[in-house]
Amino acid sequence: MIKKILVTGGNGFIGQNFINFISKKKKYKIVNIDSLTGSSDRNAHKKFKNVRFFKANLIDKLKINKIVRKFKPNLVINFAAHSHVDKSIKNSEVFLENIVGTHNLLSICLELHKLNKDIKFLQVSTDEVFGSIKLGKFQNNSPYKPNSPYSASKASSDHLVRAFNKTYGLPTLTTYSCNNFGPYQHLEKLIPLTILSYLKKEKMGIYGKGLQKRQWIYVSDNIRAIYSLINKKFTGRNFCIGSKNEMSNIDLVKKIIRLLKKKTSILEKKINYKNYLKFVKDRPGHDYRYSLDYKDLRKYSRWSEKFTLDESLNLTIDWYLDNQKWIRDQEKSLENFKY
Ligand SMILES: NC(=O)c1ccc[n+]([C@@H]2O[C@H](COP(=O)([O-])OP(=O)(O)OC[C@H]3O[C@@H](n4cnc5c(N)ncnc54)[C@H](O)[C@@H]3O)[C@@H](O)[C@H]2O)c1
Repeated sequence: MIKKILVTGGNGFIGQNFINFISKKKKYKIVNIDSLTGSSDRNAHKKFKNVRFFKANLIDKLKINKIVRKFKPNLVINFAAHSHVDKSIKNSEVFLENIVGTHNLLSICLELHKLNKDIKFLQVSTDEVFGSIKLGKFQNNSPYKPNSPYSASKASSDHLVRAFNKTYGLPTLTTYSCNNFGPYQHLEKLIPLTILSYLKKEKMGIYGKGLQKRQWIYVSDNIRAIYSLINKKFTGRNFCIGSKNEMSNIDLVKKIIRLLKKKTSILEKKINYKNYLKFVKDRPGHDYRYSLDYKDLRKYSRWSEKFTLDESLNLTIDWYLDNQKWIRDQEKSLENFKY
């Protein structure tokens, strides 16, 4: 029975949405560990009154060990990671923290497991570990072919999770999610960037011709999917968390601009989407397409998406329009921190 949940990366986009969701259930003790990188929301923990927060980097094994040993969680959910592909291309070295951090966390959990403590480890991974697929869909057990330093660091972390399950019997489960969007997503990511560039009347750069295809999931749907798994037996299984919303980046951006035009009167309604975009040199090693088959998850946990793409994009745009102060704070944070 899960009573105590340790969340890592709870000041990030998905982590804080997850804490928000589980803390409302009022049945869990929750601890959040986050190192507050420049991609984090440095104030997120302040809004969770009953969640203990520790500013700590997962690579600091001594400190993490102390926190975990004291809290004795039944479930560890590892959201923490440097997560920006472009940053990983500019400075791959810092992304090794994803691997070392996951290894530290696994080792600490294993020590508790050996003491017969009831502890499970959930690794939050990404469709990007599978590389790019032209046709068809990635499955739960598709081979790993990461193409960016970011996805390679996630893949390495996932391999360690698998090894800790196979070698030492640590109860683990891994989820591969497609692209998330929604409230509190960092301004550097495609959807917030599109909204912000539009509002600021700035042209947004889009890689290549914007033809890369992704599946897009509303963050609360991903969170419900993860939550639907936490009480299952952790036997080292992996689950793809995909969505019906597969589209090219350029089509997604055009859609958001259409929705924004309907909501705001600050810009000429007749202006073409091309006025908001500039096509820039493609990212090296840029994956053309990710697509996940998530039938297994549906069958196993009876989870299904709640929101259509239009509903969730509208909710997301409204959130960014209503949260200008949060946007300003994030912009300041971006100026001050590299990672
Ligand atoms: N956003 C997506 O579309 C998406 C899709 C699939 C999988 N994922 C995975 O989900 C997880 C969360 O993604 P996100 O979009 O919320 O990322 P994010 O960058 O918004 O948040 C990550 C958080 O982890 C923290 N962190 C990073 N390294 C740390 C370390 N060594 N020690 C402690 N804290 C650390 C950061 O400060 C940040 O608050 C990541 O593991 C990512 O790989 C994200």
